[in-house]
Amino acid sequence: MKIRRAEPKDLSSIVEIEGLCFPKETAFPAGMFVYLITYSVSLVACEPEDRVLGFIIGYTSGRGGAVYTLDVHPAHRKKGVGSKLVRAMEEELQAQGARAIRLEAALENPEARELYRKAGYRERELVRNYYGRGKDAVRMWKALDANGTDIN
Ligand SMILES: CC(C)(COP(=O)(O)OP(=O)(O)OC[C@H]1O[C@@H](n2cnc3c(N)ncnc32)[C@H](O)[C@@H]1OP(=O)(O)O)[C@@H](O)C(=O)NCCC(=O)NCCS
Repeated sequence: MKIRRAEPKDLSSIVEIEGLCFPKETAFPAGMFVYLITYSVSLVACEPEDRVLGFIIGYTSGRGGAVYTLDVHPAHRKKGVGSKLVRAMEEELQAQGARAIRLEAALENPEARELYRKAGYRERELVRNYYGRGKDAVRMWKALDANGTDIN
């Protein structure tokens, strides 16, 4: 498996995987991905023949980094793809100056919360209605180095 920067040619795979991961009401629309691929850090995990297995999108702002979303195709889960994408994103954001990473995971998404916990993220606060009315999130956080402990 290879991890590389997402390119415009990956858009249809990314949109398809997003549709398999999230219901229509909460899935990011294709136009949003066009924007994110262009202006944020978007990485895809691919098979040797370049089929996309999953993707992660994040950004850096000053010394803080954030992860917007992480999606793995249902047929390729529980094989370490998600964890490798998180690790690769941490390296990218750290190279851009981030010293800590923040992200939100749905309270009712134990798979994602467990993945992030295993990757070293700590649950910091509950964010009520983050994904819409009654859909709460847990904000998680990880320092990438000793200087990142005071960054929110
Ligand atoms: C959450 C998600 C990204 C995990 O991807 P993945 O490639 O299957 O994850 P990994 O194989 O790297 O798993 C890493 C760890 O996460 C946890 N985990 C992953 N899937 C899990 C599951 N179904 N049940 C419990 N724990 C799970 C485990 O601790 C796992 O470690 P282990 O394999 O040693 O047990 C994937 O299930 C997904 O795309 N879900 C839908 C989209 C989503 O919810 N994204 C998160 C947005 S915040």
